[in-house]
Amino acid sequence: MVKDTLSTTSNSSNTHPFTPVEKDTSSLFLQALKCQPVERTPVWLMRQAGRYMPEYRKLRSQVKDFIVLCQNPELACEVTMMPLRRYRLDAAIIFSDILLIGQAMGLPLSFQEGEGPVFAPRIESLKQVEQLETNEAADKLSFVSDAIKLVVKELNNIPLIGFCGSPWTVATYMVEGGTSKDFSKIKTLAWQQPETVELLLDKLSETTIKYLKAQVKAGVKALMIFDTWGGILSDHAYKRFSLAAVQKIVKALKADEATKSTPIIFFAKGKYTLFSDLVALGIEGLSIDWTVDLGWVREQVGQKIALQGNLDPTLLMATPDMLQQEVARVIQSHGKQPGHIFNLGHGILPQTPPEQVERLIEWVEMYSLRT
Ligand code: CP3
Repeated sequence: MVKDTLSTTSNSSNTHPFTPVEKDTSSLFLQALKCQPVERTPVWLMRQAGRYMPEYRKLRSQVKDFIVLCQNPELACEVTMMPLRRYRLDAAIIFSDILLIGQAMGLPLSFQEGEGPVFAPRIESLKQVEQLETNEAADKLSFVSDAIKLVVKELNNIPLIGFCGSPWTVATYMVEGGTSKDFSKIKTLAWQQPETVELLLDKLSETTIKYLKAQVKAGVKALMIFDTWGGILSDHAYKRFSLAAVQKIVKALKADEATKSTPIIFFAKGKYTLFSDLVALGIEGLSIDWTVDLGWVREQVGQKIALQGNLDPTLLMATPDMLQQEVARVIQSHGKQPGHIFNLGHGILPQTPPEQVERLIEWVEMYSLRT
């Protein structure tokens, strides 16, 4: 049904048939990220390796905890490859977590069953921030570089994405002590002692720059910065506490010969009032959550930056018909111009049926618009 109504723009139409010859599609993701024309929309999914996969749950049940999994390069490589073995995805993302940097800087981190991440003690004072380690912190994350090297060998040309959290988003966990509903602890600290929060953000930025450089050196082809919680700030506070640190990171990476040509995608979840500032970062891509229309975002940001997204992850629990319509809608909404990477608007949920992911990937291919 959906296919019929949209077939004039689908790749399966007579105007733009796929060439029957098997093509090398390994660089579709990087081409789209550079806003170059592609023969179909590339697709990968945030948290594509995770608890929705039976093979992940099986491996996960055999190790003590999630951190052990991240710190073991062979296991992290194995998990990174799991979704690539199951689905035809156009990019891989290294299996790790944005919060490990806090632990490397000296704040004890654990992931508790059913509770999520816990930093204990949490950051409450300037003194604690002053004591955080920055000299060797990035080196303590060398297991991520080791995992990257193993994955690159296995991937066979599919690009691997490296990542970090934005300093603000990581700081929210370090100050709140874990996941938060209202973020009142970090906001109170920011209003009462802005210099404490800014020192924390500076230390995180400095460590993140070294950490991302190490990931590029180890072999990632693109970087993604996750700012999941920037959207809880007013525009004014966002510029001071989130954007400034991201700017510092991007500037440092773009000033270094070794990293300047590695494209960067920024996920500024829920922050859609400051597009000109986001574009001015000089990054290559923006990852967009599901609350805004991609076509509208495209109008706001112009043609020179790639857009990644933006299917609501809960749609993977919808009826196949509904999922199909929504995949088509997202692709149509972005339209025919180059620069769309299909993805979810946030991470895939643990209750997602794996066969729905397979359908999604098939439908992205079916509705792709040749750009
Ligand atoms: O995308 C991928 O496949 C790569 C791996 C990845 C993980 N976390 C693995 C993970 C990535 C890119 C992240 C990013 C991350 N981690 C973010 C930013 C993106 C987002 O989702 O907002 C944030 C805020 C975190 C912090 C974090 N890690 C939380 C809040 C939790 C607990 C909640 C949850 O989903 O369980 C984690 C744990 C985590 N990180 C898991 C995975 C696969 C689940 C751990 C388990 O197996 O028990």
